[in-house]
Amino acid sequence: MERKTFAIRNKEVKIPLLQGGMGVGISLGGLAGAVAKEGAVGVISAAQPGYREPDFYQNPVEANKRAMRSELKKAREIAPDGIIGFNIMVAMNYYEDYVREAVNAGADLIVSGAGLPADLPAYVKGSDVAIAPIVSTEKSAKVILKYWDRKYKRTADLLVIEGPLAGGHLGFHIKQLEEFTPSVYDEEVKKILQVVKTYEEKYDHKIPVILAGGIRNHEDYVHAMNLGVDGIQVASRFVTTVECDADERYKMAYVQAKEEDIEIVKSPVGMPGRAIHNKLMDKVASGIRVPAIKCLNCIHTCNPATTPYCITDALIHAAKGELDDALLFCGGKAYEADHIGTVKEVIDSFRFFED
Ligand SMILES: Cc1cc2nc3c(=O)[nH]c(=O)nc-3n(C[C@H](O)[C@H](O)[C@H](O)COP(=O)(O)O)c2cc1C
Repeated sequence: MERKTFAIRNKEVKIPLLQGGMGVGISLGGLAGAVAKEGAVGVISAAQPGYREPDFYQNPVEANKRAMRSELKKAREIAPDGIIGFNIMVAMNYYEDYVREAVNAGADLIVSGAGLPADLPAYVKGSDVAIAPIVSTEKSAKVILKYWDRKYKRTADLLVIEGPLAGGHLGFHIKQLEEFTPSVYDEEVKKILQVVKTYEEKYDHKIPVILAGGIRNHEDYVHAMNLGVDGIQVASRFVTTVECDADERYKMAYVQAKEEDIEIVKSPVGMPGRAIHNKLMDKVASGIRVPAIKCLNCIHTCNPATTPYCITDALIHAAKGELDDALLFCGGKAYEADHIGTVKEVIDSFRFFED
């Protein structure tokens, strides 16, 4: 395959891969740094990164901002010349504070999904940080690019398309998940590329488009590039690496998962998610409510009085390897994992630039 790379605001990305942000505590400075060191783009999740800080339950926002700084510093120490960004979910309360913290800390890039990052351009104004919305449909691509164009007279520096096989929260209704078979979704990707093209022409600069969701090997990569995108975003494959910031037991849950263990779950965020079936999901299915350790007011779509479980608690249990009480987010093909390797091994396995 022709040597095709892309640039993020004049910074050339050597390996056309973004590591997908994974919260809570799955992609922190360790994983993001290791990926950036290989020449791809490392992404730290800004979803409750401060969960290990001593004052997390008293002062969550401050603890998270402190952890964002220390995780970025850690990643930069691992990859001094690497490209490193944050994934900041729009559904989070204090979204603007976290974006401003990422800018002040010196991130290269902010990737935002779980909602459309309507006012992200305002929050990064005056800085050099690149911004990338995550979209899943032609409609959402049109809405966000049109809004940024009209209100902020600017466009995206990069655009991530997250397809139906992604892990974590999904940008689709349940019905769309059924309708978007792989070939139907390929057509949607092409339509999104057309939308992006109009803004590339208007702003006279390239907007690299990155495809995510179930991309695990060289063939998946070639398929994505043949659709016309500029690179891939990969998340689940990095969970089963020694450098991943999660507990070993979480990584092993991927290795042990079978295809039938992976299911679509309802999340308090109000979007469907994909996860490995476990005892927490059994409890929720049988109508048992699991009260929060302490509501941190983390997500604006969550009603603490009615939510079946607390997403922050469940994701922290996952990062700590407390599997029975965890929400074990994973991509649709995570069951293919058969061992724990290294970040370098994962990146090499894609055989970028080979036919
Ligand atoms: C454990 C896990 C946590 C995730 N957390 C986030 C997140 O916090 N924010 C986000 O935008 N996407 C999140 N995602 C989605 C990934 O960034 C990525 O786009 C997607 O999983 C790609 O598919 P793959 O896992 O099959 O490679 C998460 C995915 C996983 C597997």
